[in-house]
Amino acid sequence: MGSMQWIEGYLNLNQLSRVSLLMIVVLASITMACSDVKEPTATPRVFNPTPAPTEVRSATEHGVVVEENGGSAAVAVGASGNPERGRQLYTQNGCSGCHSTSDEVIVGPGHRGVAERSASAVVGMSGEEYMRQSIKEPGAHLVEGFTNLMPSFANLDPSDIDDLIAYLKTLD
Ligand code: HEC
Repeated sequence: MGSMQWIEGYLNLNQLSRVSLLMIVVLASITMACSDVKEPTATPRVFNPTPAPTEVRSATEHGVVVEENGGSAAVAVGASGNPERGRQLYTQNGCSGCHSTSDEVIVGPGHRGVAERSASAVVGMSGEEYMRQSIKEPGAHLVEGFTNLMPSFANLDPSDIDDLIAYLKTLD
């Protein structure tokens, strides 16, 4: 009885060893198959760095565009008129020789509240349009009680006229 059990145990061990060997072979094949599968996956990864520099280039282009937009925006702000620069131009161009910034009349009407008056000076004309025309063509619409003594300042840079108007708007 004892010897038979040993033989059976030996045979069982041999069977287990055979199964283990088979499993090792199968696992090894699967592992090799997997590593074979991974290789084609690694090949497209080589292409991934290629689109990356293109993205960097387009990002740089966007950066330049943003700077250009910033520049135009800065010009747009200047075009709406700088009142501080307008105050200097008002003296430099001799406006203050004929106009006070109060109600006092020198040669022309005092400019206190001129922007508010200008808004209702001519029907269908905005205050800004009226002030612009008063500077470029003073004779077009004479202020009541005054004669055409003001010279035209149409030769001024359009941005200077914008600055002068921005300054006139502060005189209230
Ligand atoms: C030689 C004198 C003289 C000078 C210099 C002069 N003006 Fe006048 N301005 C007048 C007189 C006079 C009037 C009123 C008659 C008229 O409407 O043109 C007037 C009218 C105006 C008006 C019309 C609105 C209002 O109620 O006053 C504006 C705006 C104006 N001047 C702005 C200016 C500005 C800005 C300058 C400088 C760039 C200037 N003037 C230089 C004499 C002058």
